Amino acid sequence: MSTSGRTRILGIGSYGPERVVNNNQLSNTVETSDEWIRTRTGIQERRFASDEQATSDLSLEAAKKAMEDAKVLPEEIDLVLVATITPDMAFPSTACILQHKLGLNKVACFDLEAACSGFLYALDVADAMISSGRYSKALVVGAEKMSSIMDWEDRTTCVLFGDGAGAAVLSRDGDGPELLGFYCGADGSNPSLLCQPGGGSALPASADTITGRKHFLKMNGREIFKSAVRVMESSCRKLLDQHNIAIEDINHIIPHQANMRIVESLSQRLNVPLGKFYCNLDRFGNTSAASIPLALSEAVHSQRIKPNDLCLLVAFGAGLTWSSTLVRF
Ligand SMILES: CC(C)(COP(=O)(O)OP(=O)(O)OC[C@H]1O[C@@H](n2cnc3c(N)ncnc32)[C@H](O)[C@@H]1OP(=O)(O)O)[C@@H](O)C(=O)NCCC(=O)NCCS
Repeated sequence: MSTSGRTRILGIGSYGPERVVNNNQLSNTVETSDEWIRTRTGIQERRFASDEQATSDLSLEAAKKAMEDAKVLPEEIDLVLVATITPDMAFPSTACILQHKLGLNKVACFDLEAACSGFLYALDVADAMISSGRYSKALVVGAEKMSSIMDWEDRTTCVLFGDGAGAAVLSRDGDGPELLGFYCGADGSNPSLLCQPGGGSALPASADTITGRKHFLKMNGREIFKSAVRVMESSCRKLLDQHNIAIEDINHIIPHQANMRIVESLSQRLNVPLGKFYCNLDRFGNTSAASIPLALSEAVHSQRIKPNDLCLLVAFGAGLTWSSTLVRF
């Protein structure tokens, strides 16, 4: 039983849709090649949800596994947060839809939108809500159906992303890895670097937004690459400084799974061997808010992370947003 007074991860689970599409298969419909994708990104294959599966369905599978892992009953959950940029619909929230699909009580539910940093932002928010004493057991999900906003005519983006979900149950009552600290930041000065321009209040859906392909993800890959490496490094250093922890004391880093070259640059800048980074982007591509919980769940359930290990999670994404979290196993 928890004695430190810190929020713990009671259980974690993930879900990858059944449909696996490798780079060669993608090159049948997109003007690209396995060689280009592999050397530029490290991605070999990704999962795509079926037409019938919405983000809440992906969330459902991951949430069921996390709740089973945590050994909590549906009636014990009193808060649901879903981090996503591909909600089932603009409103109501995917968290509300998930609440019903899981058969939970009529507890507080909301979505959180911080793009690829969303899951780590959601851990910070859930920890604060639990620490207030007003909530006891939170279900925190990162889930995306990125294939629903891909422009299959834009080879510079559509080869990079995939679908998936990861979930964790958090509480101060019970056993599990401790959440030691959080750091979140953002820079909203250049939203067009990575965005979905159409469909919001700035550019409501119209025939023009459809013909102009404004409902798809748009990205300036080169600029994002440069920012990603810089903000991930500073985000790690800020959190470690706050907690007086040396980078050498970190056993595992779980970075946002966007691009292997970004991870390699981060490894060099932090002077941390690549072997300490857990990566599964070769099999999932970039699943945005699902990326960290998917990787964390795999690392935990494959017994790669041992008791007492110190784990640093770090993400960046559209906004720009960035976030890091320290977990003691
Ligand atoms: C997207 C990314 C892989 C592109 O890599 P890059 O080395 O910068 O490539 P460029 O954009 O300069 O393109 C190089 C060439 O490859 C071509 N190309 C782009 N996409 C291609 C594809 N899928 N297949 C084949 N060729 C492609 C370009 O047209 C360009 O050709 P040109 O030189 O004849 O004009 C890289 O910028 C990146 O990873 N950025 C970060 C993206 C990211 O992580 N986003 C998520 C944030 S959460």
